[in-house]
Amino acid sequence: MADIAPSVIAADYSRLEQSLSAVAPHSVRWHVDVMDGHYVPNLTIGPMIVEAIASFSELPQDVHLMIKNPSQTWRWYAKAGAARIAFHPEAADDAGRLLAEIADAGLGAGLAVNPDVAPETVIPHLEMVDHLVMMSVNPGFSGQAFIPSVLPKLRVLRERIDAGGLKVQLVVDGGVGLDTGRQSLEAGAHVLVSASSIFAAPDPAGSAAALAALPDR
Ligand code: DX5
Ligand code: ZN
Repeated sequence: MADIAPSVIAADYSRLEQSLSAVAPHSVRWHVDVMDGHYVPNLTIGPMIVEAIASFSELPQDVHLMIKNPSQTWRWYAKAGAARIAFHPEAADDAGRLLAEIADAGLGAGLAVNPDVAPETVIPHLEMVDHLVMMSVNPGFSGQAFIPSVLPKLRVLRERIDAGGLKVQLVVDGGVGLDTGRQSLEAGAHVLVSASSIFAAPDPAGSAAALAALPDR
């Protein structure tokens, strides 16, 4: 069984509780894509949605901040009920300090890295993170195609995590469907994030179940 984190960016906001509840039985956590219209051109979710989800779901929420200056606003999401927060290091003034602040607040602190990142630049930071969001699309929109050059990067990162006995969870995010999900798990991902292949499918619950049924490695 694979660990699935549906990205709520593609849920039905006219009936959010029903939309998420349908896929919750096949999910281990929610992935919440926060975009600010500056770091990425798109504008999405704020802390009110995190608070709303927490009011009806006990699944932990992973907030993925695609925003400039995450140090200014990450606490809004912590207060709203986030369990883990990941940010893009190039958007932060002091990524190391921000990771420490998030961890000191009792949340899982993560980094999110873009598909063109060289794994060698990430490896030195693995000891400082609770989870690493490896983007398999360029951040900004759901519904993009998976970038296959990320697969060997997942492999390298998972090897380092296992070799170092590290507790880091490797999360793959973007363009994940059945085929790319299978490939990502095989390459070493611990958690699959998926928005459109679940919520834009005719049967979101069935699609989440099919992803969750993929073999873990
Ligand atoms: C992209 C986001 C992803 C994305 C996933 O910026 O971080 O979480 O919305 O959407 P799909 O699964 O549709 O690629
Ligand atoms: Zn995301």
